[in-house]
Amino acid sequence: MAKERGINAIKEKVLSKKYLVTSGLPYANGKLHIGHVAGAYLPADIFVRFRKLKEDDVIYICGTDEHGAPISIKAEAEGIEPQKLVQHYHNSIKNSFDGIGIQFDNFSGTARPEHVKLSQKFFLNLLERGFIKQKTTEQFFDEKHKRFLPDRYVEGICPYCKAEDARGDQCDSCGKLLNPTDLIKPKSKISGATPVLKETTHWYLELPKFENKLRKWLQTKTDWKENVYNFIMSWLNEGLIERAISRDIDWGVPIPLENAAGKVLYVWFDAPIGYISATMEWAKNIGEPEKWKDYWLDENTRLIHFIGKDNIPFHTIIWPAMLMEQDEDYVLPTDVPANEYLNLEGRKMSTSKNWTVWVDDFLEDFDGEYLRYYLAAIAPETKDSDFSWKDFQNKINNDLANILGNLANRVFSFTKKYYDSKIPKPQKLCNNSKILLEETDELLLEIEKAYENYQVRKAVRLIVDMGRLGNRYFDENRPWKAVKQDKDSAAETLYICSELLRRISIVFSPVLPKKMKMLRQMLNLKTDFTIKDLSNQLGDIQIGEISPLFPKIDDKKVRKQLDKLAVAAQQANPKPQIEHKPQVEFADFEKLEIRVVKVIEAEKIKKSNKLLKLKIDIGGEERTVVSGISKFYKPEDIMGKKVAMVLNVKPRKIMGINSEAMILAAKTDDKMKIVVPEGDIDSGSEIS
Ligand code: MF3
Ligand code: ZN
Repeated sequence: MAKERGINAIKEKVLSKKYLVTSGLPYANGKLHIGHVAGAYLPADIFVRFRKLKEDDVIYICGTDEHGAPISIKAEAEGIEPQKLVQHYHNSIKNSFDGIGIQFDNFSGTARPEHVKLSQKFFLNLLERGFIKQKTTEQFFDEKHKRFLPDRYVEGICPYCKAEDARGDQCDSCGKLLNPTDLIKPKSKISGATPVLKETTHWYLELPKFENKLRKWLQTKTDWKENVYNFIMSWLNEGLIERAISRDIDWGVPIPLENAAGKVLYVWFDAPIGYISATMEWAKNIGEPEKWKDYWLDENTRLIHFIGKDNIPFHTIIWPAMLMEQDEDYVLPTDVPANEYLNLEGRKMSTSKNWTVWVDDFLEDFDGEYLRYYLAAIAPETKDSDFSWKDFQNKINNDLANILGNLANRVFSFTKKYYDSKIPKPQKLCNNSKILLEETDELLLEIEKAYENYQVRKAVRLIVDMGRLGNRYFDENRPWKAVKQDKDSAAETLYICSELLRRISIVFSPVLPKKMKMLRQMLNLKTDFTIKDLSNQLGDIQIGEISPLFPKIDDKKVRKQLDKLAVAAQQANPKPQIEHKPQVEFADFEKLEIRVVKVIEAEKIKKSNKLLKLKIDIGGEERTVVSGISKFYKPEDIMGKKVAMVLNVKPRKIMGINSEAMILAAKTDDKMKIVVPEGDIDSGSEIS
């Protein structure tokens, strides 16, 4: 026995791992929204809480990403110092995190002096080791503002799809990656002026030199999420290229070289270094300034980066490369469980169009843990998922209120009413009770596995299943009847359901820490606990003060959110002003001959998906017409209809056919409706 315990202790030691968990640093130029939370923060927070539950050594590190052109340009537009803008959003983001229980061990920022120093060291190490080179090229320059324009500050016409608002780095319409110089009619986004090309010098990270090392390292990562691994491989196979890691702006980490006045590190170079500088700051804050090394410089550390999918190449290629050639032996990422995107009400989220849900707004109307639950239940783990307010309401009201909340409520109020809030631990359990406990034992193992594999969706689904089992067991045992004949048997039902709730309070705590604390208080259980407590079955029960665990969400509150979104959509996409045509004389109008005609033949024109060939009857006279309505009307839709046509616009040859009239139709971007008389009238009748 003693020996066995010894072995187990050793096993535990080996199994207990050290985790350094990070989430992508949010840019300090806007508020926190649900897309952020679902992608990189909630999954990490749940993972960290689970690891803490398992008593693993884990720290969770983050901070705001405070450099980059968007920040300096926004600050300038608002007439404030970048530092001030960054401070404002740092606080706003931090408050939002607090409001939804995202609990970092440290939340730092990349404009802090220690971070600047460390980033410069990273740069110099890579330079000295021969992985950074200097190159002079021509770049767009805004002469009015006397500054070079970063890629996304040049806009113009896309050379591929001719979209008008393509950015210098990418065309959002066709998705092609661009260089600013590819754009047709380039314009400075800051001044609107046409930028000029001017020579400038930059430093480039020579990624091709890392290719072999990266490939070898990545080959060991076949257990990574499929979406992540595939993404990396296609990146590698397209071939690595040198990447400019400096910029000509005055907000950022200065390049620590004599010949580099006015040059700063590209934000994507310094940002990930923030993971380390924020850990150093954490170590200092807890009074053990060297402790960061226990994590970053120990190969036993499991370094886990939680991010959204747009960050994949930076975390799996560029950042590991940067780490590989330093003076210190840094750990490399153990895993990068990137998530896909969250859409909103079926549409792509857009902060600039206000098509999102801001966390601070959410918190004005709902409990932060409701957001945690819903985003966990729809987590975009393997594919994009959709946030919908109706679905939010349904999931909260069904899963939480009707299943779990109802179980707690009926068990506790019953215990209070018939047993004076006290149930002694039963001496013996009946078969049904034993089976239920065994079933939940199995579920518990599955739930743990799901958390370990970042499958939060699955974990919460299984927990709700546990609640379902409990309700079914309660219903089958009918304690409301049993209490009158066999009080002990009814007490056993309540005891077992309470035990089930106790187990749920442990395994659900990574997702709903506050609510599960409440639940434990109702069960009179201590609020600090570990996964090991799963096997300490309840003793005698003494119910504490009870209150509804999961109040329902009513329709009114949901309507309010939908109304808010409608306003946002309206403001983002105001109906374009109708551009009116110049006035004409009545006599000119009278020159048009518009009549009701009857379509007597209709057929598709081959080789065209737009055109229909029609034969029309104008009170006995027949004509042929070619109409561009085929996208909206099939021949049989229009056949036999009486419609309005202009008859005296000069005939035109379309696809070799003489078209002798023009159909009248109302059009929007994606719709077309032909004009028809309101009631039946002879064909040939004039319209005026
Ligand atoms: N600020 C970046 C973004 O929101 C993420 C930076 S992650 C880091 O996309 F690793 F660079 F810190
Ligand atoms: Zn395009």
